[in-house]
Amino acid sequence: MNTPLLLLWHLATCLPTTLAHDSDTAYTSSPTAPPPYNAAYDNGTFSYYPVRSYATAEDLHSPQTNFLQWDARCDDGLYYFVTPRGWGIPDPGPMILDSYGELVWAKHFDNKFGGQAYDFMVQTYQGQEYLTFWLGDDRVRGHGSGFYYMLNSSYDIVHRVGAANGSSADLHEFLITPQGTALLTMYQITPRDVTDFRQFDPANPEDHNPNFIWECLFQEVDVATGELVFEWRASDHVDLHDTYHGIGPGGTEHDPFDWFHINSVDKDELGNFLISARYTHSITYIDGKTGDIIWTLGGRSNAFMDLSDGFGLNFAWQHDARFVPLDTFPNMYRAPPERAGYTTRLVTLFDNAAEDQHYEYGLTYSRGLLLELTYPTTLNTAPAAARSEHRKRQDDSEPDLNAAKIAAINGTNPDYTVRLVKSYENPNLVRSSSQGSMQILPQDGGGGSDPKVLLGYGLNALWTEFAADGSPLCDAHYGAATSWERGDIQSYRVYKFAWRGAPQSPPSVDISDDDVEVYVSWNGATEVTDWVLQCSESADDGEGREGEQAWADVVRVKKQGFETLILLPEDIGESRYLRVIALGATGRRLDAGVSETIDRGLMSTFYPLRVAASSVRQITPFRVFMVVVSMLSGGLILYEGYRRYLSWRSGRGGGSPLRWRQGKAYRLLGEA
Ligand SMILES: *[C@@H]1O[C@H](CO)[C@@H](O)[C@H](O)[C@H]1NC(C)=O
Ligand SMILES: *[C@@H]1O[C@H](CO)[C@@H](O)[C@H](O)[C@H]1NC(C)=O
Ligand SMILES: *[C@@H]1O[C@H](CO)[C@@H](O)[C@H](O)[C@H]1NC(C)=O
Ligand SMILES: *[C@@H]1O[C@H](CO)[C@@H](O)[C@H](O)[C@H]1NC(C)=O
Repeated sequence: MNTPLLLLWHLATCLPTTLAHDSDTAYTSSPTAPPPYNAAYDNGTFSYYPVRSYATAEDLHSPQTNFLQWDARCDDGLYYFVTPRGWGIPDPGPMILDSYGELVWAKHFDNKFGGQAYDFMVQTYQGQEYLTFWLGDDRVRGHGSGFYYMLNSSYDIVHRVGAANGSSADLHEFLITPQGTALLTMYQITPRDVTDFRQFDPANPEDHNPNFIWECLFQEVDVATGELVFEWRASDHVDLHDTYHGIGPGGTEHDPFDWFHINSVDKDELGNFLISARYTHSITYIDGKTGDIIWTLGGRSNAFMDLSDGFGLNFAWQHDARFVPLDTFPNMYRAPPERAGYTTRLVTLFDNAAEDQHYEYGLTYSRGLLLELTYPTTLNTAPAAARSEHRKRQDDSEPDLNAAKIAAINGTNPDYTVRLVKSYENPNLVRSSSQGSMQILPQDGGGGSDPKVLLGYGLNALWTEFAADGSPLCDAHYGAATSWERGDIQSYRVYKFAWRGAPQSPPSVDISDDDVEVYVSWNGATEVTDWVLQCSESADDGEGREGEQAWADVVRVKKQGFETLILLPEDIGESRYLRVIALGATGRRLDAGVSETIDRGLMSTFYPLRVAASSVRQITPFRVFMVVVSMLSGGLILYEGYRRYLSWRSGRGGGSPLRWRQGKAYRLLGEA
């Protein structure tokens, strides 16, 4: 019966010294690179969407971001903004990741349409930074009707912006202007004669109620009041025959003809607009007062003469057209000398070169394009170039279709020129047949150096970050490459922004069942550098001076990724309550940065049990050796005790201190 007591004594005295943790550095150092590329993740061994889960946030998952290539220049203090969604993702939503692919913030907004988010950005409105993204009904596939949400730095929804005049906001664009207005796209079912594109059979119920299109509009609305400032309807200005998209069995009220497919709107300092329409292979510059078209680049109404062997015009099914200032790339690009009467501008866009598995137009891969356009300044009405007569129906499939298209649409008026400045191409020449984005990355200070360029590949779960000269720096997969072109994991756009998030809900904590590991995370908190584990004997929740004094610091560790592991040191002793405090860069406590209190329960404070449990947490050969030695010596002590007992019994002789068995225990103490 002495055996268990002796064992406990032995554990309590021997093990702590042999097992004192000597590996703190292993979990306090910061990463210097993301984990190496994992070919098995990428070939689908672990599903299309291998995720990481967290003890402190059971409802959150983040992708096992898989970098084929990584460069320290991607660690620029900015975060990636993605909206993972698709067949493979049960809890889609907006997500922020750091330059190593570690989760910073994610949230699934449950709505009856599945909660897929689109177009997640940081934008400035009235001097404040907001997170903006779209949520709504996207079951129509390819566009949607819903609202744009604006969240403040504590992740509270503070504005919900819809379209004016009874419309609902499409998912493609929400751009806040310096004037406090927002640009939005809209899709509306509108009657138009489409009998040039197909015949309808009155006897066929599928053809019931023919001659409808998806009309594309964009609006400028006042964010504060919701009032309409400007509205533009595609079919008022663009010929339906400009489309390259097949009508298929569509064109009815039930299945309207999606002929234009607007997907981006930009506004310049002149008050004019630049829009991208995927199904006309064109971007169009629009007078901000009259709505008249100033010029069109690409497609059947193209005005521009291609000076780059077709590479200025051969984009197809593109997304995300933007003006960028002429001095964006001070080293790589020099604008031509100014010419009176002419304007030169830079435009970026994501050239998909494909549409929903249709590859007959464009190159064999998607890319980001930086184009230089020159055109007459004074002109603000219809373009000087004649419309191309290259108006084929959509069932074309000749292999040279793309070359024929370029030859047919090439401009004839030398006043309008387009030149390819740079093409940004993924090293694996990935082709994404829907969605996608191209962003010129913001840079600190800005002075002198060329900015990086980020491509989001939309339908396919990757983004690629480039140096300005087109060399890829970081190439990240957030789903298996075997999912490409399947739609299992997609993000409409991918951006990078600076962001400071300061949630007002407390950090989340969890303790392992063996009472050895404490986990802490704080969804969306960007300013935490360190965590401090505190302990207390009393359950006081820490409010008020006396409560604060009850808490003692136990250990401070560096924040590590989304969720930080803190190993409970042995000397925490009998403190039953624990909590974790968030510290910022200067060592100051962050607002709201006190976790809930962990109650370890009565038993867990029993020291030897805790120590025994801790012995299994990190097994090294040395430790195994020490434990074995320690156990052996413990066994030896027991054996020796038992041997002596036996020899005492056999001897029955006097003088032994253990004669209490004979009822003479009073001799035990004080025996000389
Ligand atoms: C996936 O990659 C892993 C690691 O390279 C390899 O062992 C495995 O055979 C691959 N599986 C398939 C289906 O290609
Ligand atoms: C964000 O908005 C919520 C709700 O209006 C407000 O309670 C909170 O204080 C705001 N956060 C910040 C940082 O302004
Ligand atoms: C509002 O919508 C109606 C119907 O779609 C349209 O006739 C009207 O012109 C719109 N109003 C404005 C100001 O655009
Ligand atoms: C477009 O037309 C111009 C002027 O004729 C010519 O120099 C250029 O090579 C043409 N580009 C293509 C891609 O055909």
